[in-house]
Amino acid sequence: MHTEYGFCRGEDIFISVWNLHRSPKHWEDADKFNPERWPLDGPNPNETNQNFSYLPFGGGPRKCVGDMFATFETVVAVAMLVRRFDFQLALGAPPVSKYLQIEFWIHF
Ligand code: HEM
Repeated sequence: MHTEYGFCRGEDIFISVWNLHRSPKHWEDADKFNPERWPLDGPNPNETNQNFSYLPFGGGPRKCVGDMFATFETVVAVAMLVRRFDFQLALGAPPVSKYLQIEFWIHF
């Protein structure tokens, strides 16, 4: 028997973070690259201050313990790369799709 949430206690569920982060139900101009979405002088976005619509590091008691480290490390890494290189699509590369095709298997 399913609950009001559509699944039962103890069942495994999967959340597509890719879709969650691009859902117009959760985000204004969901597909827009908008660095101002979170102003630099505001709080660092996380699952609790974004009402669990933002889950790059999971949420709850088992959420990623390296979230802050990873976030700051990414800023440093991207800054170092764009300083040193000019990026462009490789000749003949397929256009970047906004849809992600995910295929995976889970073995129990
Ligand atoms: C962009 C980089 C990273 C992403 C996207 C990421 C994402 C995640 C996610 C989604 C989880 C599962 C959370 C959950 O089950 O709710 C997780 C768990 C974990 N992450 Fe990360 N992570 C990143 C970097 C790191 C780094 C740099 C460290 C350590 C320095 C780290 C340490 C861990 C550990 C120890 C767990 C397991 C926590 C637990 O089960 O209690 N992660 N991470």
